Amino acid sequence: MRCKIAIVVGLQWGDEGKGKIIDIIAPEYKWSVRFGGGPNAGHTVYLNSHKIIFHHIPSASINKDTRAIISSGVVLDVDILQKEIETLENLGINIKEKLYISNRAHLIMPPHKTEDTSEFAKIIGTTAQGVGPTYKDKVARVGLRICDFLYDNRERFIDFFKYKQLNLAQDSLEKIWQHYKQNIDNLKNNIVDTTILLQEIVKKDENLLIECAHGTLLDIDFGTYPYVTSSHTTVCGVNAGLGFYLPRIDEVCGVMKAYTTRVGSGPFVSEEKGPEGKILQEKGREFGSTTGRPRRCGWLDFVALKFAVTINNVSYLALTKVDVLNEFKEIPVLVSYKLNEKILDEYPLPVNILDKVEGVYKYLPGWGYIDFNKIESFNNLPANLLKYIEFIEEQLKTPVKIISFGIDKKNVITR
Ligand code: IMP
Repeated sequence: MRCKIAIVVGLQWGDEGKGKIIDIIAPEYKWSVRFGGGPNAGHTVYLNSHKIIFHHIPSASINKDTRAIISSGVVLDVDILQKEIETLENLGINIKEKLYISNRAHLIMPPHKTEDTSEFAKIIGTTAQGVGPTYKDKVARVGLRICDFLYDNRERFIDFFKYKQLNLAQDSLEKIWQHYKQNIDNLKNNIVDTTILLQEIVKKDENLLIECAHGTLLDIDFGTYPYVTSSHTTVCGVNAGLGFYLPRIDEVCGVMKAYTTRVGSGPFVSEEKGPEGKILQEKGREFGSTTGRPRRCGWLDFVALKFAVTINNVSYLALTKVDVLNEFKEIPVLVSYKLNEKILDEYPLPVNILDKVEGVYKYLPGWGYIDFNKIESFNNLPANLLKYIEFIEEQLKTPVKIISFGIDKKNVITR
């Protein structure tokens, strides 16, 4: 039997609940991989009652038998990675025995973190983890990679600080060098050429799960530019971020919340600024998993979702946090945009247009309070929730196969 290669992608602005969906499907996969972004991502998973937030390591590795790869497209914060490893080890997950890190991955250096607190970073509303400045230096060809420390490339290290026009004293530079060198030496046994590893996995026909971080509308090329992150968050970035051209992709699982949230600045046409937005925020516990910032909340936006489903070539949908909509009498859903009385059905390109458009809404009936713990199968779901799901399927021409309604792993129905 040939191996399965699948991708999980967020269809909104991140925080769709990818961690939980990945946790459910992980046992099918021997390997999992993160190919882009850095500690700005936060995939939340619960192990027994412990909340774990994965920032670099693929969250599928919570499953005992799933191995984890961090490929060359990721940018790493060595301190955060060390803490992540310790947290997992303390919870009994022997991550060091099954973690493979690319020797080509770029490193987040102290000046990157400083730069990510600039006025410009504040305008974008970044997570201030230094991710954007690290990608910027990667493209400027002055960035530092894991292999530079592994092979004692002090010359590049010195050049990096010269390029940043930081005149640090020799002992300060030495301290930084030693800190990184030590951290990377500690991970020596986990650092490999992940390009070769990925080739071998596919050759050996072993199942591979690819985890996209963030969400489609934060993609550097396809998101609401410039209010985006600095990496590819969509299926479009997979091959470059892996450093390996996949022979095929068997399945793309698109994860979407039953409503929409966004952290940071930028256009959000279906944002609900009234009291109902507050209800979504409180019931959905909508606070950033990396920064703790309150997330902006609103309704489903089908213009944006159609765009996301199309560019990722999504095979099926996983709908999360359905329970948060319990008790809304009516649920607005945005079906098109209007600009000067003209209807726009396509996702507009520039943010100045997105800022001006108005949403055209349909109102779907709510399903009232239901105790999801008593629901055992898809057909037992309340009639109005089934209508909500049907509406999503009709609009996006894609089946909803997973419905999640709570933190617990058992609060999920698949079909
Ligand atoms: P950066 O990725 O830290 O540069 O931040 C750029 C934008 O992406 C900001 O609006 C962040 O809030 C947003 N962002 C980055 N990662 C995530 C994520 O995992 N979830 C939600 N928003 C994110």
